[in-house]
Amino acid sequence: MSQTVEGFSKMSKAEKIRWIATRYTEHPEATEAVLSQYWNSDAKLQQLHDEFIENTISNFYLPLGIAPNFRIDDTMYAIPMAIEESSVVAAASKSAKFWLSRGGFRAEILGTEKIGQVHLKYHGAPEILKAFLEPLIPIFKRDAAPITRNMEARGGGIRGIELRDKTSELPGYYQLHCRFDTRDAMGANFINSCLEQFATTLLREAAEDDRFEGDGQDLEVTMSILSNYVPDCRVRAEVSCPVSELAENDNMDGAEFARKIVEAVQIADCEPYRAVTHNKGIMNGIDAVVIATGNDFRAVEAGIHAYAARSGAYRSLTQATVEDGLFRFWLEIPLALGTVGGLTSLHPLVKLALEILGNPSAESLMKVTAVAGLAQNFAALRSLVTVGIQQGHMKMHLLNILNQLEATNEEKAYMVDYFRKHTVSHSAVVEQLGILRES
Ligand code: MEV
Repeated sequence: MSQTVEGFSKMSKAEKIRWIATRYTEHPEATEAVLSQYWNSDAKLQQLHDEFIENTISNFYLPLGIAPNFRIDDTMYAIPMAIEESSVVAAASKSAKFWLSRGGFRAEILGTEKIGQVHLKYHGAPEILKAFLEPLIPIFKRDAAPITRNMEARGGGIRGIELRDKTSELPGYYQLHCRFDTRDAMGANFINSCLEQFATTLLREAAEDDRFEGDGQDLEVTMSILSNYVPDCRVRAEVSCPVSELAENDNMDGAEFARKIVEAVQIADCEPYRAVTHNKGIMNGIDAVVIATGNDFRAVEAGIHAYAARSGAYRSLTQATVEDGLFRFWLEIPLALGTVGGLTSLHPLVKLALEILGNPSAESLMKVTAVAGLAQNFAALRSLVTVGIQQGHMKMHLLNILNQLEATNEEKAYMVDYFRKHTVSHSAVVEQLGILRES
């Protein structure tokens, strides 16, 4: 049977499933059953999902959870989180509760500017390119007016266009480095449309300019695309309280707990192996909110990790200090999020998640998302410097193990109760379930 196919996208959904199931799976009928059990019974809703991407064969579910009790700048939030990892929502909720009685979270927007670039190649004299491009800047804006009109009416638009000489990094390489404000939209389509218009304008003007003829003096556009690195679209989230209020339990007083958290952050700041895991924990919180609100988690991930490496070494995204008896713990990250456009008005769960968050502006969503990241890091460090991560993690993983072992609801109830006082491990669960089943 041939493994190559022409016109796959034109086949019906049933044909696609048959094609894939018969060639790539052992039990085609079982494959069809697995795929179809995730279809939505509401045909219109299913069609909506089918049309999000090409070649849809089923829906891929993630749990949507709620982390309540987040006090952010004196507003209470219940944060929707879409994630598969068992302990994340529990950890966020625990952090929210911890800080609720200690002043809550504070968040601040440090900038909202996004970036796009037209990448150019030109091997002639730099002065010629500069003299050609500078007078063009108003023309770029004029030609892009049909694209920018609505955005400008909402207070956004093009904030600047400048020529950057990158020839020291790559011979003949220049950029039009452009800054945008896209208000409540993530703005990828807006920015890319503007950039492609700038490129068209540039090539049209160059074609009529005899400074760009022959002799290797040709001006070329290599590509036009937004950047997902947005260090000037940045948010800061913070918690603080007197060290004396941090007492963890009978084994650790506030001062020792604060010192260990600070040390844990210092280690992540100087040791990349730890920094990656430390920041991964932060992304547990951030991605879950980004996905629940229909935003682009790949863009967010790429931009945040680049920011973590901005000094040339990969470092912690959070910082912590103790000064004059005050513990401060904060996170600063670039975040390009949208609360209009994209999936926000299409996906019913995304719409609902945004409603639960009070239909936030992009800036408010940046704050909530950063807080979720900070809360997640606090929860992880709190466990790591005290009882260790596995205790809480395995408690939350217990149901996954029980599901793997096909435990009934009655068995689950018994086992959850039993493991309140016992350490969870895979073998301990197997053993205890065996005992229960025998009795
Ligand atoms: C697990 O998903 C995340 C942690 O490893 C984060 C951390 O180590 O800080 C617990």
